[in-house]
Amino acid sequence: QIIILDFGSQYTQLIARRVRELNVYCEIHPFYDAPDLTPDVKGVILSGSPCSVRDEDSPKIDLTKYRGKVPLLGVCYGAQYLAQNNGGEVLPSEIREYGRAKLTSFDQDNDLLKNLTKGSQVWMSHGDTIKTLPEGFKIIASTPSVEVAAFELENEPTYGIQFHPEVTHTLEGKQLLENFLVKICGCAQDWTSEIFADITIAELKEQLGNDKVVLGLSGGVDSSVAAMLIHHAIGKNLYCIFVDNGLLRKNEFEEVLESYKHMGLNVKGVDAKDQFYKALAGISDPEGKRKAIGKTFIEVFDQEAKAIKDVKWLAQGTIYPDIIESVSVKGPSATIKSHHNVGGLPEKMDLKVVEPLKTLFKDGVRSVGRALEIDHKILGRHPFPGPGLAIRILGDVTPEKVQIIQDVDSIFIGMMKERGLYDQVWQAGSILLPIQSVGVMGDERTYERVVALRAVASVDGMTADWVHLPYDFLSDVSNEIINKVKGVNRVVYDISSKPPATIEWE
Ligand code: XMP
Repeated sequence: QIIILDFGSQYTQLIARRVRELNVYCEIHPFYDAPDLTPDVKGVILSGSPCSVRDEDSPKIDLTKYRGKVPLLGVCYGAQYLAQNNGGEVLPSEIREYGRAKLTSFDQDNDLLKNLTKGSQVWMSHGDTIKTLPEGFKIIASTPSVEVAAFELENEPTYGIQFHPEVTHTLEGKQLLENFLVKICGCAQDWTSEIFADITIAELKEQLGNDKVVLGLSGGVDSSVAAMLIHHAIGKNLYCIFVDNGLLRKNEFEEVLESYKHMGLNVKGVDAKDQFYKALAGISDPEGKRKAIGKTFIEVFDQEAKAIKDVKWLAQGTIYPDIIESVSVKGPSATIKSHHNVGGLPEKMDLKVVEPLKTLFKDGVRSVGRALEIDHKILGRHPFPGPGLAIRILGDVTPEKVQIIQDVDSIFIGMMKERGLYDQVWQAGSILLPIQSVGVMGDERTYERVVALRAVASVDGMTADWVHLPYDFLSDVSNEIINKVKGVNRVVYDISSKPPATIEWE
């Protein structure tokens, strides 16, 4: 495996994803908690950072346990850190070095730069620049404005690059990373989803033995893939619970429950609609709604889990981005741990927790799902928020409003599927606005509800752009909604990006 030491850069997770895409397993560790070398560690990557190496309180690390023992690649801050700490000089850049640049001269025989093309575009994002290199360091690539774009050490496999190979704007970044991983570190590129699935199932068998496990299915990708891994390991000892909170899409509960049964899962569908509607009655505040839903879910789930005799484990579909600590450049004390589990379930239930996906990114989860031959209908689903339609009904939630937005949404999503647009969009949904507008139907004046449609392109939900859906399609959807859904006389399309807007309206 490869260790990535995180100095707080926004791109650290992206480095990890690229390494995994090259079928090499890697883990991110905070710079202040760098693991010791073990025989399976083949190399170390030092990430970038929002800090300047010139700042007194910038992140620091003692690299003696790695230097010369395994290959080391410093990226941006990582490269500057290596240079400065060995007697080189790092100064503020005289010109801004953000954005595209071209590698106009480089050593084509260097292992790190093999198969790159002259003039290859790279992505720069730094305020400091390496002015002079220490003794024993050699420049291996330059751009017109950055002389030290890449360097290597003469007597050990240590490299530094000023640009970011992990971002797609560095067009041959993947080749560079592959050179580092394969040519320099000797990684085998044998970490595939099939192997991950086989190893995980074997480990789960060992860990869980004959114990009973309970898992809450949501209809989403993560809980479904987690369930299938555990199902392959322990079969009927996995008890799945799928709760109908009355806030799912139209007919979704029945359809998804059917797919789960088809997959051989031991799943119990629980109709708790009324309990959720009761808990939500009169609440308009978005956070208030989230809290009420979370609390009710725990109550329902806890009751169902208690009905299973001798259950020992709670399984969760937690994924890697949920558990990696957002590294604070100030060190461990300032670190915020962003672990989202289902509203505090493990704390409430006296169960051991098993999380088979906790080392995977979302695309890795999908890929394991494909390796397990889970239906595309489940793997290709758009993300859907836990609180469901409750946060797409602005204001308080009533069964009548849920039905309206379910009907609207079913037309919108259904037509996207019919026209082949669904798989091109990252997430789409409909929002019921808390206003009415004047319209005219026949000779009658109407005063009815307004709905908004939203469709976004995104990679991870952190940033998103609205999708330019075809006008003809929007026009047909709008007609269909206004004609078919009683109580709605106006449809609008949300053309805001995130940031500054968010994907959901609440
Ligand atoms: P925002 O609205 O923050 O949404 O841009 C980003 C992604 O997160 C989903 N989302 C949620 N998911 N519980 C969830 O499980 C929530 O309370 C919640 N709020 C937003 C949203 O659907 C989008 O995919």
